[in-house]
Amino acid sequence: MKRLGTPRLHLRVTDSTSERAKALAAQAPHGLLVTAAEQTAGHGRQGRAWTAPAGEGLLMSLVLRDWPELLPLAAAVAVAEAVGPEARIKWPNDILVAERKVAGILVEARSHEGWAVLGIGVNVAVREFPAELRDIAGSLGGTPADVEAFLARLLGNLEAGLAAPLEHTITAWRRRDALQGRSISWNAGEGVAAGVDDEGRLLVALSDGTTTALNAGEVHLGTIES
Ligand code: BTN
Repeated sequence: MKRLGTPRLHLRVTDSTSERAKALAAQAPHGLLVTAAEQTAGHGRQGRAWTAPAGEGLLMSLVLRDWPELLPLAAAVAVAEAVGPEARIKWPNDILVAERKVAGILVEARSHEGWAVLGIGVNVAVREFPAELRDIAGSLGGTPADVEAFLARLLGNLEAGLAAPLEHTITAWRRRDALQGRSISWNAGEGVAAGVDDEGRLLVALSDGTTTALNAGEVHLGTIES
């Protein structure tokens, strides 16, 4: 795949790098990158907000004109590898360190228009979280000066990861699976997480001995603490 991150549009403040990238996507070359020091309306999966104090997080969105089948999982592996060996992936693509979410990924694709926007937020140097996130969010504990170096590392990982064979992505993802063997609940049931299948669906062992497969788009997940 061609170089990611060129051209790059960096904004001091914007509503959402993904909204900016989507507005440009139809005319943009593969790899166009939008970054910002601050977002006023950053958003994540399932309508959640994404916030970070100015300059303390990596806020980026990439326009892709071709992308692998399991883009959400491939992106999660690339981000986890940029974070380090301690990073785990909570299906489908939350990046955790010590059980706290340090990065989030939002894929928005319009296949019929020939583009996908890969939005990534990483708490590289965030020092304080709003009260409602204090128990679940985490930071890499870096400084604002580390954000650019993290971005460079991540772009390299994404270039390799998005071009990798599907089975490599799945194998790398499984090695970092944060939910494996844990009790989970979702909007329609509960069970024990049992890895992902080759289509990236979460497998869940149910109490009746059967296994079900969950699609990321349909499911609001929770873990059951024991
Ligand atoms: C999630 O955890 O639900 C995904 C969060 C994705 C946040 C990033 S920050 C950069 C880009 N712009 C956005 O508005 N969202 C993504």
